[in-house]
This record gives sequence, structure tokens and C-alpha cells, in this order.
Amino acid sequence: MRHTILRLTLLLAICGLPLAAQNPSTKDAQVHADMNQLMRGALYPASNVVFSVQNDNPSDLKPVPGLDPSLSTDPLTSTFGGWVAVENAALTLAESANLLIIPGRACANGVAAPTMDPAWVAFVQQLRDAGMLAYRVARTRDQEKMSDVAETVSQACAGCHRKWRDRRPAANRCK
Ligand code: HEC
Repeated sequence: MRHTILRLTLLLAICGLPLAAQNPSTKDAQVHADMNQLMRGALYPASNVVFSVQNDNPSDLKPVPGLDPSLSTDPLTSTFGGWVAVENAALTLAESANLLIIPGRACANGVAAPTMDPAWVAFVQQLRDAGMLAYRVARTRDQEKMSDVAETVSQACAGCHRKWRDRRPAANRCK
């Protein structure tokens, strides 16, 4: 038994892997934004594209007169607009789940984001699942179903916010 452990230790050492548990998928990830900045830059704009389907059918979107789609700041009216923009926004939300669990991110008040907390991990998974469901439904081009999924996405945001964002005063956020 000891022999086996020794051999395993050697093997890991040769592979250059430290024995301490380290998630290889997040090892090289780098953090550049605080949690608010990440929300403003990625989750908020992407979710607005998904939520827009509750009011407007992406198939009905007309090109904006005088606006070059390749320069559009609104994904819906850009070169990759309409339902394709909704698909990609849904995927962005699913992908952003990965950014919410990489270690080292702080909230704007300097408190470390509780990325190891099982409840945080569960909310992140909820967002990932909602994003992927939204992607699949966006591909069906069904506005009504998409509106329901937008609600599911919204709930995925709200659950985590209730627990960690909506704390008063702001110094208590993320604790
Ligand atoms: C796993 C937890 C979690 C999920 C899921 C989550 N958020 Fe957040 N969000 C936070 C936390 C925590 C803050 C506060 C961060 C801070 O104070 O730095 C926040 C803040 C925000 C803010 C406020 C930015 C500001 O400057 O006031 C917006 C907007 C936001 N989130 C949008 C979203 C949207 C949209 C979704 C869903 C698509 C979402 N978030 C999903 C945890 C989450």
C-alpha cells in the first residue's frame, strides 16, 4: 500500500502536478474584474438580450437606418443579430458561470467572493443550466417558450443576489 502511494506520488511529481488539490481547469485562469464589473460587463448586457424576447420577437427586428451593423453596440442589431444574438447571449451566460467560480475574485467592497460556498456553486450551476436551456430554446425560434426561459434566467440571477448582493450596508455584501 505504502509502495503504491509512493509510486503515485512520484508519478504526480514527474507530471509536475502539486499534490495539493488543485483544479486543473481553473489553475491558469486570471481575474481582472471585481464582481460588480464582471456583472456590468458580461452578465448584465447578455441577459438584457435574452430578456428582450419577452417584448420583441427577434425575427421582427429591422436594420437601424443609418447604422452600420458591423459597428452596432447592440448585439440584436449587429451583424450577428436577431435570434443569433439571443443564442450567443444565452451561451455567454452559460460561459460566464465559469468566471463566477474561478478563485481570487473580490466583490467591490473588497470581500472575497464566496466561490467555495456550496450555495454559491449551486446558484452558478443554476445560471449555467438556465443559459444552456435558453440557448436550446433560442434555436427553436419560439418567442413564447423563450419568454418563459427568460424568466428562468432571471430567477437564476435573483437567487444569488438575494443571498449575497442585497445586503445592507454594502460592506456586508458577499459575506
Ligand atoms: C452566483 C451569484 C450570482 C449570480 C448567479 C448572478 N449574480 Fe449578479 N451579482 C452577484 C453579486 C455578489 C453582486 C454584487 C457584487 C459586488 O458588490 O461587487 C452582483 C451584482 C450584480 C449587478 C450590480 C452591478 C452594480 O454595479 O450594481 C448586476 C447588474 C448583476 N449582478 C447582474 C446579474 C445578472 C443579470 C445575472 C443573471 C444573468 C446575475 N447577476 C447573476 C452575484 C451573482
